[in-house]
Amino acid sequence: MRLGCRAYPGKDVFHIEYLRFRGDPVRDSVSAGTAWPAIIQGGMGVAVSHWSLARAVSMAGQLGVVSGTGIDTVVVRRMQDGDIGGHVRKALAASPWPALAHEFLNRYFLADGRPASKPYARLPMWTLTSNHWRKAVAMLSAYVEVWLAKHGHRGLVGINLLTKVPLPNLAVLYGAMHAGVDVVLMGAGIPREIPGALDRMARHEAAALKIDIAGAQRGDPEQWAPFDPAAYASTSAQPLPRPAFFPIVAAHSLATMMAKKANGAIQGFVVEGPTAGGHNAPARGQAHLDETGQPVYGERDVVDLDEVAALGYPYWLAGGFGFRGSVAKAQAMGAAGIQVGTLFAFCDESGLTESVRHRVIAAVRAGNLSVRTDPLASPTGFPFKVVELAQTLSQSEVYSDRKRICDLGYLREAYREESGRVGYRCPAEPVGDYVAKGGTVAQTEGRKCLCNGLMASAGVPQTQKDRAVEPPIVTSGDEILRIRELLADRESYRAQQVIDYLKGE
Ligand SMILES: Cc1cc2nc3c(=O)[nH]c(=O)nc-3n(C[C@H](O)[C@H](O)[C@H](O)COP(=O)(O)O)c2cc1C
Repeated sequence: MRLGCRAYPGKDVFHIEYLRFRGDPVRDSVSAGTAWPAIIQGGMGVAVSHWSLARAVSMAGQLGVVSGTGIDTVVVRRMQDGDIGGHVRKALAASPWPALAHEFLNRYFLADGRPASKPYARLPMWTLTSNHWRKAVAMLSAYVEVWLAKHGHRGLVGINLLTKVPLPNLAVLYGAMHAGVDVVLMGAGIPREIPGALDRMARHEAAALKIDIAGAQRGDPEQWAPFDPAAYASTSAQPLPRPAFFPIVAAHSLATMMAKKANGAIQGFVVEGPTAGGHNAPARGQAHLDETGQPVYGERDVVDLDEVAALGYPYWLAGGFGFRGSVAKAQAMGAAGIQVGTLFAFCDESGLTESVRHRVIAAVRAGNLSVRTDPLASPTGFPFKVVELAQTLSQSEVYSDRKRICDLGYLREAYREESGRVGYRCPAEPVGDYVAKGGTVAQTEGRKCLCNGLMASAGVPQTQKDRAVEPPIVTSGDEILRIRELLADRESYRAQQVIDYLKGE
C-alpha cells in the first residue's frame, strides 16, 4: 500500500491513510490543548518560514514558526546584501549583547550591498570545536529572527530546528530564548536531550548535546557539542522563560519515547505523515521503492492516534491537512489542531524568492506540477520531497551542470577517521573528497547539495569562484495542487487567506 493523504470523514471515524483513529468518546488532548492556537504554520527551512511569514501568522492569532536551520548564514548574507529595510540592525540594536552586536555589524554589514558577481563571505563550517565567535553568530542570528517575528504584538512565535543538524542548535536556541520564543519544534531525529537543555539554558547554565560519530569504535571517547551561556554574559541576567517543546514525530512509539524518556518535560506533539513537505521519516522496515523510485509506506508507518492521545498531551496533525475546514476535521480526531507547511510556503509573506513562488503558482494553475519523494536527494539519508520545477536542482541538466562543492556543511556527518580523530563528510560533496573520507561512490549518487539549493530558493544564493550562481531546490508536500482551490481566481494569496481556508471560512 502506498499511503496517500486523502481524508475520509465517516460517521464517527475519520481515516487519513497514515493515521489510525477509533474515535474514543473522551479526548483529553483537545482540552489540554485549548490554550494553544489550532493552527501551527510549520517551520520551513531554509528561511521559507522567515520572520515575516511567522509574524503574519502570529498576528493572526495562530502559531507562526521561524526556521532556525542555517539561520546564521541567512542573516549574515542579509547583512552583506545591505540589510534592506534595516530590520537586522534594528533587532541587533535591541539585543542583550551590545558588544557582540557591534562586532557582528562591523564584520558583515555592507551598506551598499554586494556586487552580484562577488561571493558572499562564508562562515566557517560547524565542527565539534566551533569557536566562541562562531556560536555567537548563530545565537545573534536566531535572536534577530525571533525578535523580528515577535516585535510589536503579543502573538506566539515558535522556532523549528532539525535534530539531524545538531552542532548549531544550542547556540540558536539560547539566542531565540532571549528574544522570547514561545515554542521549540524539532523533528528529523529524536530530540531527547533538548527539553533538559532548554531547562538548563533558561537558568543560563551550560548544556551539551551528544554527537553520534559514524564508525565509532568501542572505547572511543564520547563526543559532545557544548554551549555555555556564561561565555556570553548578557545584559539580562534574569532567568529566561522556558519555551514549550513540541517534538515532531512520525510514529506513536516515538511519541511515547519522548514522553517517557526525554531528559525534561515536553508540552505537546506534532504528528507528521509521509505526505508532508521537506524531509520525511524513512518508511519502517525493509526499504521499498515503487516503480517510480519513490519510497513505499505501509501498515507499519500508520500512527495510532489513540496511543498518542493516551499520553495526555495536545497534538497537532501535519501532512496533507492543507484543505478547507481541516482544523475541524483534525479536532474531531482528538487533535488540538493542525500544522501546515505547503500552503504557507507559497503565500505572499513566504521567504521563497518571488521568481520561485510565481513559477510554482503558474505551474499549479496549469495543473502540471509534480512533487517527488526522492530517497537519495538529501545527504541525511531521509526521503526529501522535491518539486519538479524548471531551472532548479530537480532537473537532471541543472544537477549535472553544477560543480560539486561543500562550503556550508550543515548536513555533514561526523565520522571516525582511521587515526581515531573526528572528521566531517557529506555525500553531496565532491565525490573524490567523500571517497577519500571512507565513503563510496555509490553513496554520492543522486545526492543534492540542499544547503546551497535551499539558500538559493530563499534568495541568498552563493556565487561561486567560477561565477556560477547556485541553483535553487524547492520542496513541498504532496498536496501542492490544493493551492489551486485556495487561489480561486487570484494571482497570489496571503497567510490570512490560508488561515481562513483551513478554518473553513
Ligand atoms: C518548503 C517546506 C520546507 C520545510 N522545512 C521543514 C524544516 O526545515 N523542518 C521541519 O521540521 N519541517 C519542515 N517542513 C515540514 C512543515 O513544517 C510541515 O510539517 C509540513 O509542511 C506539513 O505538511 P504539508 O506540507 O502537507 O502542509 C517543510 C515543509 C515545506 C513545505
